[in-house]
Amino acid sequence: MNAVEITNVHKSFPGPWGKVGAVYAVKGVSLSIPQGAVYGLIGPNGSGKSTIMKMLVGLLSPHEGSCNVFGRPATAAANRREIGFLPENPYFYKFLTGEETLRFYGRLCGLGGKSLRSRVRELLELVGLQDAARRRLAGYSKGMLQRIGLAQALVQSPRLLVLDEPTAGVDPIGSRVIRDIILDLKSRGLTVFLCSHLLEQVQEVCDRVGILYQGCLIAEGSIDELTDDPDRTQIILSGASAELLDRLRSLAGDSWISSSPLHRSLEQVFLRGIRAKMEQFSKT
Ligand SMILES: Nc1ncnc2c1ncn2[C@@H]1O[C@H](COP(=O)(O)OP(=O)(O)O)[C@@H](O)[C@H]1O
Ligand SMILES: [Mg+2]
Repeated sequence: MNAVEITNVHKSFPGPWGKVGAVYAVKGVSLSIPQGAVYGLIGPNGSGKSTIMKMLVGLLSPHEGSCNVFGRPATAAANRREIGFLPENPYFYKFLTGEETLRFYGRLCGLGGKSLRSRVRELLELVGLQDAARRRLAGYSKGMLQRIGLAQALVQSPRLLVLDEPTAGVDPIGSRVIRDIILDLKSRGLTVFLCSHLLEQVQEVCDRVGILYQGCLIAEGSIDELTDDPDRTQIILSGASAELLDRLRSLAGDSWISSSPLHRSLEQVFLRGIRAKMEQFSKT
């Protein structure tokens, strides 16, 4: 059984005069997510990503088609315990501390007593906020707020985690922390459905990707399936001499296209620089 099964889903929002001027947000989308996979939905703003997520957590109903989660319709009450959701613009009570916030959401989910206390401690540790647990959210950075949001979504130990733009507005280091948390959750067997317009980050964490454009899924598959160019082959050499390259070039003949140093991503350069500085500071 797949964790998520979306079949030919349509969703429109009425315009100011009913059907006239209606917005067709999702137009016949089908996709499935196997249990334990990390699935990324990518697409420009307004392509229907949040609408699909809201249908999956039962906040909106499709006009046509079906959304099933663990074999049940997404709107079934029994699914509430199985799904954790981080909305696009989560609203938190700024006067509560991180710890109080998680306790509040835990109570809403019916947890309490010792088990809630230990769950809150565990989650704060998982998202790396144990040192900020007693600080009010008003003083949290954007990255810390997204991490508290992630912990909130995990409070009742869901089997499916739905994350709407988990790294929106978060700097590269904060994004990396969130990415590592997602990979950690995946290693514990959780199914994750996330959406983003940050393509590189999706590529780093997701097993499968769907590309959404104006409410339609225009491509879907594993990262390799989508990005492999069957006509081209890349060979990576370390410390290759000019002579070796010349020999390879003559051997390859007309098949040779180009050779150049391997590029690092700007993110790698940035993080490497920061890590070196952090090590320097920790020594002094
Ligand atoms: N509650 C709503 N009422 C009217 N239109 C909406 C509503 N929610 C979303 N839309 C419209 O549906 C389309 C898809 O929106 P959304 O799912 O939020 O896109 P994304 O998350 O990819 O940015 C957009 O054109 C948006 O304006
Ligand atoms: Mg959105």
